[in-house]
Amino acid sequence: MATSSAALAVFERAFGRTPDVLERAPGRVNLIGEHTDYSGGFVLPMAIPQRTEIALARATGGDGVCRVVSANHGGRAPAMFEIGREERTGTWIDYVQGVVKALRETGVLVPAFDAAVASDVPIGAGLSSSAALEVALLRGLRALVGFPLDDVTIAQLGRKAENELVGAPVGIMDQMASSLADATTALFLDTRTLAYERVPLPDDTEILVIDSGVAHDHAAGDYRTRRSEVERAAAALGVKELRDIDDPAVAGALKEPIGRRARHVVSENARVLAAVRAMREGDLPALGKLMDASHASLRDDFQVTVPDVDRLVALAQGDPEVIGARMTGGGFGGAIVALTRRQKAAAAGARIVASYGPRGRVLVPARDGWTSEEGR
Ligand code: GLA
Repeated sequence: MATSSAALAVFERAFGRTPDVLERAPGRVNLIGEHTDYSGGFVLPMAIPQRTEIALARATGGDGVCRVVSANHGGRAPAMFEIGREERTGTWIDYVQGVVKALRETGVLVPAFDAAVASDVPIGAGLSSSAALEVALLRGLRALVGFPLDDVTIAQLGRKAENELVGAPVGIMDQMASSLADATTALFLDTRTLAYERVPLPDDTEILVIDSGVAHDHAAGDYRTRRSEVERAAAALGVKELRDIDDPAVAGALKEPIGRRARHVVSENARVLAAVRAMREGDLPALGKLMDASHASLRDDFQVTVPDVDRLVALAQGDPEVIGARMTGGGFGGAIVALTRRQKAAAAGARIVASYGPRGRVLVPARDGWTSEEGR
């Protein structure tokens, strides 16, 4: 990808020296298992080729101040904060501050650093640009300081950063995917125990990701609402988490809108398990139907889709090379994921976008030479 040296170039331009460390982490796409990861459920994400890269060096100023430039946010004037005095600003630097604070709270002495970030993970497309930044930074700090930190701990610290300093009540899926997944194998994750297995994509299939062009920037409040509805449903059913309920009809019997929210989560957990089975057996029709059903459930029961995303999914589902399609990520805009026959994704994507309109953009298969400057 074209970002391979972007962080380095931005670092050298901003700080006039070479960095000590260069690290990266990918965005993710979730194949199935949406809005299940904050009630102990199952998810099935993969990494995407787009990634965030970070160049890091210990600061030379001696004043405990970190300076961080981002190619995606101006690229020149650094955002600054002092180690030990991380505070929410409501801007992108909060992901960096949140990681530093989470790491310090585990007892690691984090030195002041200079950093440059460059990413081609689109922001606002539901592909976890924030998790990619958190995981890349944690990998970078691990290399810079030399402390032991395994990949699961990295994911947990990334989530802590987001839940606490950033203030987004997300689950663990995105950070686990960015930290542990690759772009050819799905990560079947039990978000209650964090046990995971790698499940290869069936032979003769390929992933297609298309951005709807409807950014989900406004989604934080809606996400919080859904999360609290799910928690209320669990309380009404007398369980700790909806993971403990197997029968969608039991969940659906609760009063509205809690009933339909719970029915989505309970049925989605069952769909993830069935999808893993279908992947292992190479049962493509079954897998496709599960993806389509997941979208219908997110649209009708969980109600996190928007009309353009529904239209894009319907176009994808109507394409002859598409096996199944659904929205992916938190919803309220963002991208869709489809499974296609192998070597057919690019052509199918072009056809679907041509019908959808100019806001649509094929993100996977990734185009060569797409640089962070072109990212939103
Ligand atoms: C966002 C969150 C994840 C997960 C998804 C929905 O991506 O960060 O934790 O809840 O939404 O599945």
